Amino acid sequence: MYRLTGVTKRYARGEKAVDALDGVDLTIEDGERLVVQGPTGGGKSTLLQMLGGLDRPTSGGVELDGTDLARLSEAKLTRLRAEKIGFVFQSFNLVPTLTAQENVETALVPLGVGTRERRRRAAEALEAVGLGERLGHLPGEMSGGQQQRVAIARALVKQPRVLLADEPTGNLDESTRDEIMEVLEGQWTAHGLTFVLVTHDSSIARRATRVATIRGGRLTTEERSVAEGNRADG
Ligand SMILES: Nc1ncnc2c1ncn2[C@@H]1O[C@H](COP(=O)(O)OP(=O)(O)O)[C@@H](O)[C@H]1O
Ligand SMILES: [Mg+2]
Repeated sequence: MYRLTGVTKRYARGEKAVDALDGVDLTIEDGERLVVQGPTGGGKSTLLQMLGGLDRPTSGGVELDGTDLARLSEAKLTRLRAEKIGFVFQSFNLVPTLTAQENVETALVPLGVGTRERRRRAAEALEAVGLGERLGHLPGEMSGGQQQRVAIARALVKQPRVLLADEPTGNLDESTRDEIMEVLEGQWTAHGLTFVLVTHDSSIARRATRVATIRGGRLTTEERSVAEGNRADG
């Protein structure tokens, strides 16, 4: 479970300072799916970086299962990220010279998983996202949707507790967007992950039962019944 209390992130920008996050309080239960929406510059990516321990708040606490990420040493934070947190980004961030399978394997290297086991698990993760036939392909030989599937497999191959996705469909056309959302939702359901998805696309936010909106670094949450979520879907 995540518990954020009074999280502020201030960036110095020349003479001025920008509060990318301004007193954010937020609790996310295990296995929950939360969609965070809001305009560009609202603070979505900054919030995700806090949840993922990629950056530290200027003030406030970011607790994951009772551990305050803001206070962890760099080494412990790196370890925690490698074990518990999977990331998916808008720009896929695949290594262009590695095959799909090798890209997925990179997530297991810091965990000390042996070569043979890495290969097996990477193949399995790629099969789970429908790319069992593409293990040996380079990113440049795949469509955008396929590359994002590789990135999803890479995020999930270590069986993390948390999946964080920052505009994962931002570079994709509409039909591929729906396809990738189905893959993400399928993986969330299958693995009981805590899933936080950030988007400025309101059609994705409409599918969710819990939505947070972040604007000017200030966050508000809204609960909807499943029925309402479904109605908004149609
Ligand atoms: N590394 C940084 N240095 C300075 N300002 C930043 C930095 N990262 C983000 N910001 C500023 O913080 C605010 C929130 O940015 P961001 O979290 O990227 O928003 P979003 O993802 O919703 O578009 C913006 O005003 C942005 O310009
Ligand atoms: Mg962003």
